[in-house]
Amino acid sequence: MLALVTGGQGFIGSHLCERLLRKGHRVRVLARPRSDLIYLKGLQVEVVFGDLTGDGDLNQAVAEVDWAFHLAGALKGFHEADLMRVNREGTRRLTEACSTHAPNLSRFLLVSSLAAVGPSPGGRLATSEDVSPAPLTWYGKSKHEAEGVVQQSGLPFTILRPPIVFGPRDRDVYGYFKLAKAGVLPVPGRKDRSYSLVYAPDLAEGILQAAECPEAVSGIFNLTGPEVLTWSELGQKISTALGVRGHVLNLPEFVIRASGKFADLAAQLRGTPQIFSSQKVIEMLAPAWVASPEKARRTLGWSAKTPLDEALSLTAQWYRDHGWL
Ligand SMILES: NC(=O)c1ccc[n+]([C@@H]2O[C@H](COP(=O)([O-])OP(=O)(O)OC[C@H]3O[C@@H](n4cnc5c(N)ncnc54)[C@H](OP(=O)(O)O)[C@@H]3O)[C@@H](O)[C@H]2O)c1
Repeated sequence: MLALVTGGQGFIGSHLCERLLRKGHRVRVLARPRSDLIYLKGLQVEVVFGDLTGDGDLNQAVAEVDWAFHLAGALKGFHEADLMRVNREGTRRLTEACSTHAPNLSRFLLVSSLAAVGPSPGGRLATSEDVSPAPLTWYGKSKHEAEGVVQQSGLPFTILRPPIVFGPRDRDVYGYFKLAKAGVLPVPGRKDRSYSLVYAPDLAEGILQAAECPEAVSGIFNLTGPEVLTWSELGQKISTALGVRGHVLNLPEFVIRASGKFADLAAQLRGTPQIFSSQKVIEMLAPAWVASPEKARRTLGWSAKTPLDEALSLTAQWYRDHGWL
């Protein structure tokens, strides 16, 4: 198969490219002209340059492809419109290009997010794929609207909703590894907030299995690992993976909210949006982000294979090997 991976140079995208190549598929990556391609080094991929929001068309990127894996997206922005422009409108441009210039396309796979549905109902109760979406943040709303664009595109589609993703090359959960290495395990607000997680190589396998599965057409799947953890449980596991002792630091909600506002201001001054912001604080203070992978297990035959402790150790090792820790 010829697979287009938008954002294939990014964190999750590069794991997906590796997996596709290992299975013998041909891979084309849509990257931006100024994208850092370091994670594609040594991989036999074709790179096509383009921007989901730019003036140029995306026709060359989609020509002849059998699968389109759409991972490119904005995770942060100063305004809701910034996220809508990339996540909703960029997805619209890509689906339109596929409709007119990818006659062989057998699947368009959107990597969405649990943020598109909002936090899990009733705290620890796992979200299934058919709850009514109630996204909380600009990012969540833009991913929800991107899902709508794909559903209305007329293309054979599958939507995948990962939770927090961690693994080699990730820069978000990495912040928690750095704090854990310093012996500090911050817990924002209530101690019982719980989360689903997935290890990037396992997620990549799930995305590929969705493309291979004919029953996944028109389906939405949570691709989450089996574990449900609180921040302090995750922090303790990361400390173990790093071989350090961690001390839980409970942070009151007003401190988190104030830090979010301060981060917004700092980002404005630097002129670059940051992942930690008052929008992120809204997600952090929601009761829980837990989703059931049951439908993916039943339909795709997928489950996250790597035991959590091993996945965290492999991630810690990668950070050490690359001088990040
Ligand atoms: N990481 C998570 O925890 C998580 C959880 C749930 C869902 N997701 C979803 O997974 C996908 C991949 O995320 P990631 O964590 O791998 O993030 P990432 O490393 O930042 O990858 C996103 C990619 O999108 C590209 N991109 C952004 N704007 C673009 C535009 N206008 N035109 C073309 N490409 C553009 C970026 O290109 P550059 O390289 O040029 O910046 C980047 O490579 C996203 O859609 C995200 O919403 C992530």
